[in-house]
Amino acid sequence: MAGAREVVVVSQSTHVLPLEFKRSYPVVVRGDGVWVEDASGKRYLDAMSGGSMAATLGHGRRDIIAAARAQAERLAYVHNERLTNPQQEQLAHELAGLAPKGFTRVRFVTGGAEANEMAIQIARRYHVDRGQPKRWQVISPAQAYHGPTMATLALTGRPGLKRPFEPYMPDHLHIPPSTWRFDPTGDEALHALDRVLEAAGPDAISAYFCEPVSAAALPAYSPPKRFWQGLAERRERHGFLICFDEIVTGVGRTGNWFAAESLPIVPDIIATAKGLGAGYAAIGAVLCQQHVYDAIASGSRKFTLGHTWDGAPLSCAVGLKVIDVLRKEGLVERVRERGPRLRDQLADALQGVPMVHEVRGRGFLLGVEYVDPRDRKSFLPPELRTAGRVDDVAFENGLITYSTMPTRDGFAGDQTLFAPPFTSTDAELAEMVDRFAASVRQVAKELETKLEARPV
Ligand SMILES: Cc1ncc(COP(=O)(O)O)c(C=O)c1O
Repeated sequence: MAGAREVVVVSQSTHVLPLEFKRSYPVVVRGDGVWVEDASGKRYLDAMSGGSMAATLGHGRRDIIAAARAQAERLAYVHNERLTNPQQEQLAHELAGLAPKGFTRVRFVTGGAEANEMAIQIARRYHVDRGQPKRWQVISPAQAYHGPTMATLALTGRPGLKRPFEPYMPDHLHIPPSTWRFDPTGDEALHALDRVLEAAGPDAISAYFCEPVSAAALPAYSPPKRFWQGLAERRERHGFLICFDEIVTGVGRTGNWFAAESLPIVPDIIATAKGLGAGYAAIGAVLCQQHVYDAIASGSRKFTLGHTWDGAPLSCAVGLKVIDVLRKEGLVERVRERGPRLRDQLADALQGVPMVHEVRGRGFLLGVEYVDPRDRKSFLPPELRTAGRVDDVAFENGLITYSTMPTRDGFAGDQTLFAPPFTSTDAELAEMVDRFAASVRQVAKELETKLEARPV
């Protein structure tokens, strides 16, 4: 069997349908804290919390494993359609207490895309139950990622991601992101929002859907204050709901329990997932404001769509232990206090690298944006795979990072995400920064040679 003894698996040697057919996958066999180890004994520093930003507390936590085991021995699973369980009830109570004011109801799911999709369904249910059945379309910033299901893919405006699945997707509406490149003040995005509201007719819009602070799509980016204020005004005027995708940012990542706390706007619905299970259970949650609940409670009085594992005792017990650890170890506060210095360390280490345009950071969600060093603003030629090369070199240097190159979509170019576990020590963070900066510098040097032969 491939992977049982091999150190690296390639597509020709496995029954697994791989994500990328040209890639070689190191076989990882154990993890401890911020380190994972492959079958050859090579160790990698995990600057990406398990690769997907889920493992916020690091690997191999005996306390979480013990809580999961105790719950599995008591009662691992019952379905929530006719039964409930103390862990689901308690976790909903905890999340309502940790979320911004007004979030009183929680529905559990299994992951991020499910949480986002359920948020769309709850928004739709809200409007139908209030007697506004024409409201179904969603507006969202184009440069985003909300999941791989048909409904969540439809929420991004990135042709490169959606093709060839477009025939399955409803026609939602998108506006360009208000980044330094397109719209540094946020005014253009507001004009674009007004244009789509007018074209669709405001009575057709169910929700504005976005990441409050972006993850992989635009690492650590958040629109300017002006945009959020304008969005709140338009919600007031047009009656749509605001849904935040906090799949990554929820449960501590940006130095708040929810990123919504740090913005001048309160959403109506929040979807969260990764950090709730911290890589120890597949769990997500949708939180809604009391007024959203009230509309359904005095309307259809039911919301029965759900999945097999929603609110299961085992996954909820893990969620409860994760929150307990975050509280007892003061980890959300640590991320809030340590994050700005980590951003500065990263920026200092990359000082003078001409392809580095910006180092952004919100807590332990950081991002590096690269540009063409010849004019310091254009996207890098995509065929050079510069950010992909950063990951490859970092990997060789025993560091796990996550880079993207969504240049074909037109809104962002090469960029790297840097999102370590909250439990990383100062020494481990310093080592991650050193290995990362060495990798970027090596790639920047290679790039110089490659660009010499090309016209600007
Ligand atoms: C911002 C954001 N939303 C949604 C998702 C989808 O979550 P999942 O992969 O758990 O379905 C992701 C996954 O990376 C994400 O980063």
